[in-house]
Amino acid sequence: MTTNNEDIKKGLAGVVADTTAISKVNPDTNSLLYRGYPVQELAAKCSFEEVALLLWNGDLPDQDELTEFRDFESTHRELSPELKAVIDALPTDCHPMDVCRTAVSVLGAQDPESEDDSPEANLLKSKKLFAAMPAVVAYDQRRRRGDALIAPREDLDYCDNFLYMTFGDVPAPEVKTAFQVSMVLYAEHSFNCSTFTARTIASSLADMHSAITGAIGALKGPLHGGANEAVMNTFDEIGIRKDESEKEAEHRAKEWMDQALAEKKKVMGFGHRVYKHGDSRVPTMQSALFDMIKYFGREEMLGLYNGLAKSMDEAKGIKPNLDYPAGPTYHLMGFDTQTFTPLFVAARMTGWTAHVMEQLADNSLIRPLSAYNGPDERHVK
Ligand code: ACO
Repeated sequence: MTTNNEDIKKGLAGVVADTTAISKVNPDTNSLLYRGYPVQELAAKCSFEEVALLLWNGDLPDQDELTEFRDFESTHRELSPELKAVIDALPTDCHPMDVCRTAVSVLGAQDPESEDDSPEANLLKSKKLFAAMPAVVAYDQRRRRGDALIAPREDLDYCDNFLYMTFGDVPAPEVKTAFQVSMVLYAEHSFNCSTFTARTIASSLADMHSAITGAIGALKGPLHGGANEAVMNTFDEIGIRKDESEKEAEHRAKEWMDQALAEKKKVMGFGHRVYKHGDSRVPTMQSALFDMIKYFGREEMLGLYNGLAKSMDEAKGIKPNLDYPAGPTYHLMGFDTQTFTPLFVAARMTGWTAHVMEQLADNSLIRPLSAYNGPDERHVK
């Protein structure tokens, strides 16, 4: 069989690989639906726990279902001593995504249902992963700062407890709201690189934890989830000066961007494979960022944010993606830059696990073809 080069869809761009009922991305209308609901509505009106149940079950939960899940989640948050020991054995200068990837691997090895691929067992595994991830992310940030583990509090919901385990205080309602909005927006986005990786691994009938471990590896890269961290590195490179006015910061950011584009640099946090006229999630996340800028009184961050975005828009017409407002939001909340992508992991755990279950419900091994362009047949002399 011969393949013309024009038949090759490099990066699978434009290829429709399967159907999904989990989310619909519409780049023409800049819209994103989770199981039919606009993501903006979910971010405004629903808790992250409700959104998780929506993604897994197909419908929003009633009060009893939500209460039952909250009881389960709040009692499955603790790191086992074995998992804590494994995390403690990892160097504090490794990337926190390495810790997430390793932790999910350990959780898989410890899970008695690991090899049970029934829908019931996989839903249970999804809920356990959802509940366990905040403790991994929070503890990893703490140990890097030389701080001790904070035990979870069962009286707090998912987002309050996540921030409590990281910083030791129950967050202000404003901070919790912005954090929850980011979790909802990061939860799901159809066949992105990490989700497709999870589905590919699941399609071989490997277990749920293997699929999620692979997805975490895919998310780490700066062309995907790692971009939220890279955005903050850009801010740091420009220089965050707390005493600077918004206008001054905007001016310096514009100069930086003009220079970066003149050098043909790719600036992380801008552009998207699917959205070409703007990411549907950005207005909601941007509004959460602006709330945080106001709450913490950090106008210089607004200047940097607007300066880069305006300059990129004027020069290339390329719009920000979700990682652009999410990065500085997490910075203002007090997260270390390298913890940003692990926060994305905790959120996307919902979408990944929903996709693994959807893949298995109607599975076909994912195995594309390739066009060979190596040497012609030859023989060993
Ligand atoms: N900075 C500068 N130029 C850019 C950027 C950017 N961020 N994104 C795209 N371009 C330019 C490219 O240089 C290219 O220009 P050219 O035609 O003159 O060569 C053109 O726009 C098309 O870019 P591609 O990379 O081919 O577009 P593609 O659809 O393959 O890429 C991608 C999408 C990978 C996201 C790209 O925009 C990018 O690398 N962005 C930065 C990384 C990033 O922010 N990733 C997060 C994605 S969203 C998420 O994971 C939540």
